[in-house]
Amino acid sequence: MQNAADVIWMNGQFVAWDDAKVHVLTHGLHYGTGVFEGIRAYETPRGTAIFRHTDHIDRLFKSAELYYMPIPYTREELRSATHELITRNGLKSCYVRPLVYRGYGQMGLYPLEAPVDVTIAVWSWGAYLGDEGKRTGIRAKVSSWRRIGPDSLIPHAKACGQYLNSVLAKIESHKAGYEEAILLDTRGFVCEGSGENLFVVSGGRIHTPPQTASILDGINRKSAIQIARDLGYEVVERDIARAELYLADEVFVTGTAAELVPVREIDDHAIGTGEPGEITRVVQRAFDDALRGRSERYAEWLDVVPAPAPAT
Ligand SMILES: Cc1ncc(COP(=O)(O)O)c(C=O)c1O
Repeated sequence: MQNAADVIWMNGQFVAWDDAKVHVLTHGLHYGTGVFEGIRAYETPRGTAIFRHTDHIDRLFKSAELYYMPIPYTREELRSATHELITRNGLKSCYVRPLVYRGYGQMGLYPLEAPVDVTIAVWSWGAYLGDEGKRTGIRAKVSSWRRIGPDSLIPHAKACGQYLNSVLAKIESHKAGYEEAILLDTRGFVCEGSGENLFVVSGGRIHTPPQTASILDGINRKSAIQIARDLGYEVVERDIARAELYLADEVFVTGTAAELVPVREIDDHAIGTGEPGEITRVVQRAFDDALRGRSERYAEWLDVVPAPAPAT
């Protein structure tokens, strides 16, 4: 793998990257019985800092609870293991991937006897939708795949098996020549990108689909809402019709991997002028400042990785 780091945290131990292995009969490998997080750490003026770390850890515990997986570590143990992992790998900024999964020991669809294993990996990972995408905006396609519904799976959980839905949408959009897919919910309203929440700007107001539209309750969504409101914009959580995407003045998406990315075209309709709009730019700037520790106002969102103790 590109960008491999040195060590990975597995069930309480630091193991070499190449030795971080599982048995082929790992339950999660067969049935998708796992939950995970995507987190980023940034180089900030206060040192390496993890953006909204405790919010991500909280969501990990919620996802695990929804799938009946007791995590055999405390929140604080996972937090400090992540600090140590970043330090041991000597990374100033990185992506952080905690994974909780049903391990080796029991097959079949009743998983509660299988162990719950926990790993944390970190590696360097650039802008998921590209630096160019962050600057000039991306082209997206409304997917033929609907986002998973709450009557068959749990949109609020960030669960491994559920990502087959995102994977299908992502492959479809790439094969059709677009950078990202936008999924509708089972009712036909706008839901989100394959790995990002979505915002529509029209008439000077910012709109985003509500919790009841099968979205993942994105942490960057929450941050963008707060930042936009603090900047004086009205943000409305409501159902959004597909046509509103095409007629929008501006559209942008948010997510840990992607950060805040303007969308300049959807299904070959230019959004607004076809270039990132003013409101998107203003919110994006404030958002990037918050991520990278340049904003006093949002300083409490950053979990600074403690400097290693000097060798004695
Ligand atoms: C399906 C999906 N929706 C939305 C998001 C955005 O969530 P967050 O801002 O917490 O990264 C993600 C990324 O984690 C995702 O995978």
